Amino acid sequence: MKNALKVNLGVDPSLFNRPGKVIGRHGYTTDFPKERLVRKFMPAKQVEVLRQALPESIRASLMHVNYSEIRLLRAHVHIDDQAVMNIYLHTNGEKTTFWDGPIEVDDGITKDNGNDYYNVVHDKLTPTEFFVAQPGDAWLLNVRKPHSVSMQYDERPEDQHFTPVDGVLRYAVQAYFDAPYEVVAAALIEAGKAAA
Ligand SMILES: [Fe+2]
Repeated sequence: MKNALKVNLGVDPSLFNRPGKVIGRHGYTTDFPKERLVRKFMPAKQVEVLRQALPESIRASLMHVNYSEIRLLRAHVHIDDQAVMNIYLHTNGEKTTFWDGPIEVDDGITKDNGNDYYNVVHDKLTPTEFFVAQPGDAWLLNVRKPHSVSMQYDERPEDQHFTPVDGVLRYAVQAYFDAPYEVVAAALIEAGKAAA
């Protein structure tokens, strides 16, 4: 894959399962009454476990780490961070898809800016690749490329595939990097924590 890399950090993911208080609720859209994203505090001890599991060359570019409860997401790009590592603690067969094409802001149904991302106009994009994460998987994502989350199998009409299904939540540790995806990916491969 060009924009996502499966990572083996060599750390038991259950070590990270210590969510703290809610930091923020984001990603409100007109097609669903609740937020799409809840971020929760991750204690310093858990952050340090994760930091130590990273290759030394990319530790300085780790911006922050939090827990996230994430519903389905329309195609979006991140604003501050350039690469994100998700360590999935709970999933429901969701498909993360990457898209090619022009990146244009879509404010059509967005009620907030998602706090660190914006939705992009979907009709002009073409899906190029996807992955379906299992609980315990870690994936590095190129978040400057449009990416979306939908259910792998969805019987709703196509225009509803990015509208959250109530009760379906993914739960993940998210580590945000201020370094290009290619740089973080190369360091992980070099350290033997991912396959080229
Ligand atoms: Fe994202």
